[in-house]
Amino acid sequence: MTDAALVIDDLTTGYGQLKIVRGLSLSCHAGQLTVLLGRNGAGKTTTLSAVAGLLPTMGGTVSLHGVPQTGSTVARVRSGLGLVQEGKRVFRARTVEDNLRLGGFSVRRQRGAIAEGIDRAYERFPILKDKRRQLAASLSGGQQQMLAIAQALMPQPTVLMLDEPSAGLAPSVVEQVFGEIASLTKDGLCVLLVEQLIDHSLAVADRVAVLDRGRITIDTDVASLDNWDALRESYLGATIKE
Ligand SMILES: Nc1ncnc2c1ncn2[C@@H]1O[C@H](COP(=O)(O)OP(=O)(O)OP(=O)(O)O)[C@@H](O)[C@H]1O
Ligand SMILES: [Mg+2]
Repeated sequence: MTDAALVIDDLTTGYGQLKIVRGLSLSCHAGQLTVLLGRNGAGKTTTLSAVAGLLPTMGGTVSLHGVPQTGSTVARVRSGLGLVQEGKRVFRARTVEDNLRLGGFSVRRQRGAIAEGIDRAYERFPILKDKRRQLAASLSGGQQQMLAIAQALMPQPTVLMLDEPSAGLAPSVVEQVFGEIASLTKDGLCVLLVEQLIDHSLAVADRVAVLDRGRITIDTDVASLDNWDALRESYLGATIKE
């Protein structure tokens, strides 16, 4: 297998003196979808924030394509890292196309790069082209999530992290969004998906990791996952009693 696109090694992070994530190691390859499952408060968002450079690390390293990342969030975007934050972070009062343009901030110096990025986004998500002059606020929840993903794709990341893209969406829309995420993986992206939905996630993931109170308790290929009950138990953090 090729070298990992994203390697998180022994990461410890949190808020101020408070350690939330302790010694977390995880890696992801190009064309691979890794899902990081965990209950509310397990530390999923904290992990992604530290990897993206939004939170300082207290220990460990984050590497993209073998290069340790110690710089700002923008520097990491330029190194190929994308993040779709929890809760559909689109600019609701701006048009769809403006949102895409804003997503291309880190490539703005390359002439034509933004226009090409917008064309690529419309190819992947035709609905966004139809609605390009409408305000993002007028889009459905699923369409806003597509826009958030399209926005994160503008700088052409090689590693894309998504934080609970299913949150607040109807089940049928979740399937659609997960289908789009799976297709990004097929196109060669390394995807780190943070989720609470076990079944939907396992249907599209190659690898699964479980985070419980800031520590990884399971990290395995989905194909070799034979003990689903242990996964659920670990995930739920409780033994199922008869
Ligand atoms: N800004 C903050 N300051 C202090 N503690 C925080 C802060 N943000 C989150 N925490 C705490 O860190 C822990 C992990 O939170 P985090 O948001 O990473 O969990 P999560 O796994 O993403 O949960 P959810 O599924 O609810 O999004 C929680 O105990 C939370 O209260
Ligand atoms: Mg979270």
